[in-house]
Amino acid sequence: MSTEPDRNHPAGSGDGGRLRVLVLFGGRSSEHPISCITATGVLNAMDAERYEAVPVGITQTGQWHGLGPDPQSWNLPGGDLPRVPEPTDPLTLHLTSAGTHELVSVTSGTSHGAVDVVFPLLHGPFGEDGTLQGELEMAAVPYVGAGVLASAVGMDKHFMKVAFQAAGLQVGPWETITDRQWRADPEAAVERVAALGLPLFVKPARAGSSFGITRVSTPEEIVGAIEEARRFDPKVVVEAGIAGREIECAVLDGHGLSAPRASLPGEIVVHEGSGEHDFYDFQAKYQDNSAAELSCPADLPREAVARVQQLAVQAFDAVDGEGLSRVDFFYTPDGSFIINEINTMPGFTPISMYPAMWERTGLSYPELIDELLALALERGTGLH
Ligand SMILES: Nc1ncnc2c1ncn2[C@@H]1O[C@H](COP(=O)(O)OP(=O)(O)O)[C@@H](O)[C@H]1O
Ligand SMILES: [Mg+2]
Repeated sequence: MSTEPDRNHPAGSGDGGRLRVLVLFGGRSSEHPISCITATGVLNAMDAERYEAVPVGITQTGQWHGLGPDPQSWNLPGGDLPRVPEPTDPLTLHLTSAGTHELVSVTSGTSHGAVDVVFPLLHGPFGEDGTLQGELEMAAVPYVGAGVLASAVGMDKHFMKVAFQAAGLQVGPWETITDRQWRADPEAAVERVAALGLPLFVKPARAGSSFGITRVSTPEEIVGAIEEARRFDPKVVVEAGIAGREIECAVLDGHGLSAPRASLPGEIVVHEGSGEHDFYDFQAKYQDNSAAELSCPADLPREAVARVQQLAVQAFDAVDGEGLSRVDFFYTPDGSFIINEINTMPGFTPISMYPAMWERTGLSYPELIDELLALALERGTGLH
């Protein structure tokens, strides 16, 4: 995949004309530790000749903590689940009247220099859901990935399905229980979801990394599962369980007038009988290496590969996607692809599925980072 040199070498504000890239990670969601691990991977892979990385960790209370460029010097507390410590000198982004985006100290107002582009490596609420994207729009600073609307729609499992359905994609049967519906008449809500049959998947509408998700196989478990999901989000989505292989496809935006690109698909194989896991839960995702396997490319007939790639791009367009997204499907025994979800900031460690799928398709992790930063600068902010 060739890129034009002028697009990839714009003059930046950093030393030697390098682009100053504000790498944001951590954040207020439960996926904070994963994001810290991702930041290390991205910073190690960024081309130091072209980019001056400015890493800023967002704490679980939302404070911005400026950290040195070398992740090895951070010594984040938390062991396997690292977290950004509270800063003594919190930072914020400030749009100057000259139109530059300065990183400044909240308390003293001291400038830590201008940044050219932001790489938000955040997952979940207050990172991947349009709120941070809104803040970056207000600061008029270009950033990698989806804008406000696509981020918000991609975070909400109810509205995501509404958008997919409207675009003609096949979604599985589901019911949504709003906070008001649950508090006003829980029996009616239970009756409604029980009509979907068993098993059910009960999920917080806006979470991620499988947090708060329960697979329900008896009617008695429904209420407990809804209450568990509500610990993460008062809005709950309940889906009929779908029997099928989990097939994912990576989408990368096109340059200029070119259409978005889809990678070779990958497959999540959850090893049944491997202890606790009967679906791709948090532990299987991050903590138990033997519980699930990422297989790429997925073993699919050529026709199915072309079809899932086309559906993935359709899903990306359905939510007004930009930059990148991972689109996840169930491939049913009758050969249908039922869409499960879109992730506008998918797992992005060097061994995550999204980069792995691009690697297999011919784009390395450092090249992927270059592509994403180039796309962000090409797009700019505001209406476009
Ligand atoms: N309707 C469903 N039918 C079968 N399995 C499901 C269903 N919904 C979720 N799962 C299983 O649960 C996992 C997590 O659900 P998902 O909706 O992808 O949540 P998250 O956004 O947290 O990744 C999926 O990867 C899959 O293994
Ligand atoms: Mg998922």
